[in-house]
Amino acid sequence: MARYEIIGGRRLEGEVRIQGAKNSVLPILAAAVLAQSRCVIHNCPALSDTSLAIQILKMLGCAIEWNNGTIWVDPTGICNREIPGALTGKMRSSIVFLGPLLARWGRAKISYPGGCKLGPRPIDLHLDGLRQLGAVVREEEQFLLCHAPKGLTGARIVLSFPSVGATENLMMAAVLAKGTTTLMNCACEPEIVDLAAFLNRCGARIRGAGENTIEIEGVRSLHGCEYTVIGDRIAAATYLVAGAMTGGEVLTTGIEPQNLMSMLALLQKTGSEVRWGRDHCSVKAKQPPTAVAQVRTMPYPGFPTDGLPLFLSLSAVSQGTCVFVENIFENRYSSVPGLQRMGASIRQEGKVAVVEGCAVLHGADVCAEDLRGGAGLVLAALAASGCSQIQGVEWIERGYEHFCKNLASLGARIRKT
Ligand code: UD1
Repeated sequence: MARYEIIGGRRLEGEVRIQGAKNSVLPILAAAVLAQSRCVIHNCPALSDTSLAIQILKMLGCAIEWNNGTIWVDPTGICNREIPGALTGKMRSSIVFLGPLLARWGRAKISYPGGCKLGPRPIDLHLDGLRQLGAVVREEEQFLLCHAPKGLTGARIVLSFPSVGATENLMMAAVLAKGTTTLMNCACEPEIVDLAAFLNRCGARIRGAGENTIEIEGVRSLHGCEYTVIGDRIAAATYLVAGAMTGGEVLTTGIEPQNLMSMLALLQKTGSEVRWGRDHCSVKAKQPPTAVAQVRTMPYPGFPTDGLPLFLSLSAVSQGTCVFVENIFENRYSSVPGLQRMGASIRQEGKVAVVEGCAVLHGADVCAEDLRGGAGLVLAALAASGCSQIQGVEWIERGYEHFCKNLASLGARIRKT
């Protein structure tokens, strides 16, 4: 098993070009099966989840090329409508193939998804919405079987929670449905806007993505297009927090600052100097940072659940007390035991954690249990004195392209062993 060895205490300084958004590229690759000709997708991050999505596309019968951040998907040879457990088991988000397969072929069979260990991650909203569009859904023990004998038909669907995955799946299912679909109380995340922009470039008619209500006028068919995925807001926040925690100065490029405004605002509150322009943002640290009183995770544009572990680490080295409230997923606090081992003062129960900051962290041997928690441990190790070993690197590298190399280019002493 690979691990990171980090010798902390170095001030990070420099520039990082931010990878394409992991949470955009997966639904966009899934959406490519809706098109009747080739799609060219730029700014795709080299991540294990991207490789898995490609394996799924190949298994369905797509011809794929992947070179230097660009993926060519030719869906004209699709001959299969089934995704086996061997693939979905490794990536929960493979459920986003359900909507597109059903819309394009009237049939989909998908084994139950796996993925990050963030507690129970149900898919009832996806399935209820698909049923409202006319799909017949059969939930067997191992797999889901969906079919739409008469094709899908537009409907008014109110989500009981603005789920990102359900909004994406239903948007993709509705683009080829008969008539108009109105999705209400949907997720507003930038990755939803990105997916809608891709679909519209393929000929879909989607209005309102990024707002609570999305209207989709069904069309007969979609064609391929060329598209560039947005920058990854969580990756950008990770490098910015690394700068803030190490008394450094970090510039991230290839990212639209408005997509991470809630995190930039919080960084500013910790006393760091935060600046941004059209496609970049930067941080210049204040040492020690000042604790913000409270961080509550919310659907976008609120503070993102994926950002919580990053700010948890930041608050461990800030002056003052910070209360975190996680409202989206269970098990978001996987990094707490590791942070405590490094000397952080954190009490956590259920969805609340109280961090009494200004601990002087020291290096320790810790283990990443999930993607963002793992990134939080790396941040803490960068700010700690002495050497840390971080196991479970596979989790971290599900979401960060060239993580080690990028941090080293900022001056971190990090190596993968
Ligand atoms: C997506 C992101 C993930 C991010 C999350 C929140 C991808 C691949 N993943 O996950 O990185 O952390 O958004 O921004 O894009 N829920 C239900 N029933 C459902 C669906 C969801 O109850 O059918 C609940 C979940 O349990 C959770 C909440 O809704 O409490 C949010 O889930 P959702 O927005 O769907 O997140 P994901 O799409 O899984």
